[in-house]
Amino acid sequence: MNHTQSVMRTNEFTNPSGYLLPTVANQRSFVPNPLPPKLDLNSVQQTLSKADRKLGELRGIGTYLANPYLLIRPLQRKEAIASSNIEGTYTSLPELLLFESGVEDQPRSTDTREVYNYIRALQRGFDFLEEIPISNRLILELHKSLLLGLPRVRTGHGVPGNYRTEQNFIGKSKDISKARFIPPIPPNHLDCMGDLEKFVNTDDMTNLPPLVFIALFHYQFETIHPFPDGNGRVGRLLIPIILKQKDIMAQPLLYMSQYFEDNKDEYVDLLLRVSQKSEWLPWIRFFLEGVIQSCDNTIDTIRKVQDLREEYQKRCQQARSSALLIHIVDMLFERIAVTVPLIRDATGISYTAAQNNINRLVEYGIIKEVASQRRPKFYFATELMQIFED
Ligand SMILES: Nc1ncnc2c1ncn2[C@@H]1O[C@H](COP(=O)(O)OP(=O)(O)OP(=O)(O)O)[C@@H](O)[C@H]1O
Ligand SMILES: [Mg+2]
Repeated sequence: MNHTQSVMRTNEFTNPSGYLLPTVANQRSFVPNPLPPKLDLNSVQQTLSKADRKLGELRGIGTYLANPYLLIRPLQRKEAIASSNIEGTYTSLPELLLFESGVEDQPRSTDTREVYNYIRALQRGFDFLEEIPISNRLILELHKSLLLGLPRVRTGHGVPGNYRTEQNFIGKSKDISKARFIPPIPPNHLDCMGDLEKFVNTDDMTNLPPLVFIALFHYQFETIHPFPDGNGRVGRLLIPIILKQKDIMAQPLLYMSQYFEDNKDEYVDLLLRVSQKSEWLPWIRFFLEGVIQSCDNTIDTIRKVQDLREEYQKRCQQARSSALLIHIVDMLFERIAVTVPLIRDATGISYTAAQNNINRLVEYGIIKEVASQRRPKFYFATELMQIFED
């Protein structure tokens, strides 16, 4: 996209889904109308049914998994890395695993901290739902978990857990007159968030299909852009959280960040076109296609992990005290990286016994020692890691 095209031209708002209000530097901010818009969903009905079916399939797999947490943790890591990547964050999975497994007591880089925070926010979000519904309070808590502990440049100079107090804008340039999009001027953004909260809690009356509801919600939240930074991530975090609140999927298995990242230009373009031209259906269709692809990807990952687990169990069955070994293999599926002290503490066996079990897993080709000066030594389940790095 060239530079002139990326400027927020008010004359491109030919049939806006909100209205323009004067703001700083002689610019105009966009204030979206409260949801829902009037929609005729006929043309997306087929895609919607397919997305619903896929989601049902994923939910089914989720409920028959013996121990879904074996998978959920690695899937969350994958999502966290994908979601943080959009901003150009590069954290390798190994670095994150080292921090999580306690081999390192501080994340090596701010990027790792950021990815770790994303996982933390995702888990907190699910926990909060036990106590409070999706609301401004919950959204602020998510933002806080996401950004607390990061340097101020990484929080957009805002305070984690607080809405912005200034006009912000979306665009590569630091100059607002070159902004691609200017969200609502304060305090309008707070009114918009109030309306959004109301929409979530009165939605039963609107009869919208849940996935369409989430597509609308995501557009609205991103358009309000209530935070100085982290709006994209909080918006993406909210997708599995809304699915849970709406009793569509209890487990956090649908993650869309990879899809949004792979199709970033189309993604942000479609969001903008809703604001400019009320083109809701192309956005909704794009979102539903994303649900289908994301479900397919996750289902594929789950199958690969299950196959590998069965294969490893077979290999371990020949060993003496195979029950313990299989238990350790399951730990591996959740953590991917292990150390001797970690196995010792988690199982209650002696250090020597833990070392022996690790040696056997090395022998069976399940884990590999990582060459490093670090102590304790750590081992990665390399094939497993590969599945999540693809
Ligand atoms: N024209 C637009 N209208 C509404 N929302 C937009 C538009 N363009 C981009 N966005 C949203 O803004 C997000 C970026 O906002 P912000 O930088 O605050 O979030 P982030 O989590 O730090 O970044 P990112 O999502 O890029 O990783 C994008 O991910 C997208 O969801
Ligand atoms: Mg950002």
